[in-house]
Amino acid sequence: MSTTRDDESEAGVGPSSRPTSGSPAGELQIVSSEDPPPSQINDALVLGLSIVAAVSGIVFGVAITLDAPMLLYGSALAIGLFALGYAVRRYFTDRFPLVEAVEPRLRFTDPDIEDDDAAPTSIPAIQPVPRRPFLQWALLGSAGAFLLGLLAPISTLGPRPRAGQIRQTAWREGTRVVNTEGRPIRPDDIAAGGVAYVWPEGAVGNEKSSVVLLSLGRPALEPTILDWVVEDRLVAYSKVCTHAGCPVALYRQQDEALFCPCHQSTFDTVRGAVPTFGPAARALPQLPLGVDRDGYLVALGDFEELVGPAYG
Ligand code: FES
Repeated sequence: MSTTRDDESEAGVGPSSRPTSGSPAGELQIVSSEDPPPSQINDALVLGLSIVAAVSGIVFGVAITLDAPMLLYGSALAIGLFALGYAVRRYFTDRFPLVEAVEPRLRFTDPDIEDDDAAPTSIPAIQPVPRRPFLQWALLGSAGAFLLGLLAPISTLGPRPRAGQIRQTAWREGTRVVNTEGRPIRPDDIAAGGVAYVWPEGAVGNEKSSVVLLSLGRPALEPTILDWVVEDRLVAYSKVCTHAGCPVALYRQQDEALFCPCHQSTFDTVRGAVPTFGPAARALPQLPLGVDRDGYLVALGDFEELVGPAYG
């Protein structure tokens, strides 16, 4: 029992104490209070779970750092979280005395008539039962070790991008436009109303540089950059959606619109691939497109806009 006799008499706590007849109405009356019996089993549980949580946190950190199988570090994380949570739960189990209290019914009073007996309900202070100090330290230590383990994923972050790396793709001035087999493309290879998914020569499969090459059925309109439209019909846009980076892989010829299958953003290919529907807020960047002296489609330079989601 943590409370002193003085505390008990102040709070009305004590074995089978009764409300006194002179108590103000509305005040909570404690009629009995009993400390829970000390439980060595509960204390051992708190200690054991704290150790399990600490060990799990360390295992998680080491496994992440060593690139161990996900099953190992995932299990360690799950076990550690469970053990730490349950240890905290057990630590606070039986921390408060079992209190029986009654609240006398308030008399109805007219608000215009002062009545000193109608005091607001108040709750006497109840002191928690003290715990052994080492349990508290065990819990804090295991929480610290566990949190330390959670910092390990920082070591798995990739290298910091070099200056300009985010902006650049594999397209350069004079880079030929090739198909997935690496074959250079001439304007005549794309029929009217046709579409092709193309790459920079030497960088087939470089997702960030992937491009949709279209043959428009009618003249392009601004904000399309008309100088980059070949033969008044061939235009090339980045295939990386400006919303969240999915490949914009669907082309509906009758609407002359590109669709992103992830969240249904729609881009008007006649008007500079500006978004007309969906969550994308930016147009697909247009590739500066031209023809080299051998008659093949080439880039006139890299994209001038950021490719993909609008970060950076
Ligand atoms: S990624 Fe294209 S709409 Fe979301």
